Amino acid sequence: MKILILGVNGFIGNALVRRILNTRDWEVFGMDLYDNKLDHSLNHPRFHFLEGDIAINKEWIEYHIKKCDLVLPLVAIATPMSYVKQPLKVFELDFEENLRIVRQCVKYQTRIIFPSTSEVYGMSAESEFQEDSSPLVLGPIHKQRWIYSCCKQLLDRVIWAYGQEGKLQFTLIRPFNWIGPKLDDIDAAKEGSSRVVTQFIINLVNREPIRLVDGGLQKRCFTYVEDGIDCLMKIIENPGQVADGQIFNIGNPHNEISVKDLAYMLRELFQNHPDHRHDQEYSEIIEVPHEDYYGQGYQDILTRKPAIGQARRLLAWEPKTDLPTSLKYTLDAFLAEIRRLNHQV
Ligand code: UGA
Repeated sequence: MKILILGVNGFIGNALVRRILNTRDWEVFGMDLYDNKLDHSLNHPRFHFLEGDIAINKEWIEYHIKKCDLVLPLVAIATPMSYVKQPLKVFELDFEENLRIVRQCVKYQTRIIFPSTSEVYGMSAESEFQEDSSPLVLGPIHKQRWIYSCCKQLLDRVIWAYGQEGKLQFTLIRPFNWIGPKLDDIDAAKEGSSRVVTQFIINLVNREPIRLVDGGLQKRCFTYVEDGIDCLMKIIENPGQVADGQIFNIGNPHNEISVKDLAYMLRELFQNHPDHRHDQEYSEIIEVPHEDYYGQGYQDILTRKPAIGQARRLLAWEPKTDLPTSLKYTLDAFLAEIRRLNHQV
């Protein structure tokens, strides 16, 4: 099988290409702006990488969509700070650029696995979000945070419609707060623009306060990336075309925690880490209003738990890694990376 992965240097892309090359005989074509997360794969004979921009290298992309059996367009801005501060960039990249890819998949009859998101459920009131029945609930237009959810939802609907017309073989996946090594770039976290686990780790390393937005009572279910990749591999293999035309939540409902408890758990893991056991000083944990942290355009999701019956039933998939283990693996990987960067300086 020939697979095209756009955004292959991203958090999901790099973990996926490594797994594919280590465990299957498939050939992977990948594009990304950068290659800093791809040390493990760059020299592999079955990995063909082009450093480039999906908004510029359009001919390369079209040629490979035509040539490959499957496309995973993983290019997207996926941090809430960006939704609030740069909503048009989110629209242009996450929606416009990806729509072009979707249309080319239709044109060349290439199968697509498209990353939707847990964010499409928005502030849905349900205790567990179901792919085929939960309402998708967004806030008002001036709450710009929802532009990401809205872009992804509209693409879900476009892809679905092409599928209904028999023009596209597709699967939609909805990752729920995946965490693990290389989750976000360390520099992004230094500027306050990364997802919560990376942000808290960098705060701990820098002895800065950990900031709980609006008190940190909001909850998330964190999913270890390798569990998510297990599910994605089953979808790619698609035995009996079981994943065609389906939407899958890929999350770990057992790993639910409030942001506040997450902060205390991570700080304890950090304090017990061999590199930091004897530090004299640790980050304090403080509360900040969302207006001060993200700005007026932010609105939060108070609970977000996936129903995963669909993936259990159709794919026989079950997430395996509990929360303390997931956080420990993630923390250890970031601290090792920071140690490596410090030695390079
Ligand atoms: C994330 C992002 O939108 C995407 O990565 C993705 O599509 C999706 O959800 C997902 O991974 O499932 P969210 O969970 O809100 O959205 O993103 P985080 O930035 O990780 O924030 C989680 C929670 O921590 C939010 O309530 C946020 O307000 C809080 N937070 C974040 C803090 O309290 N302090 C911080 O320093 C950072």
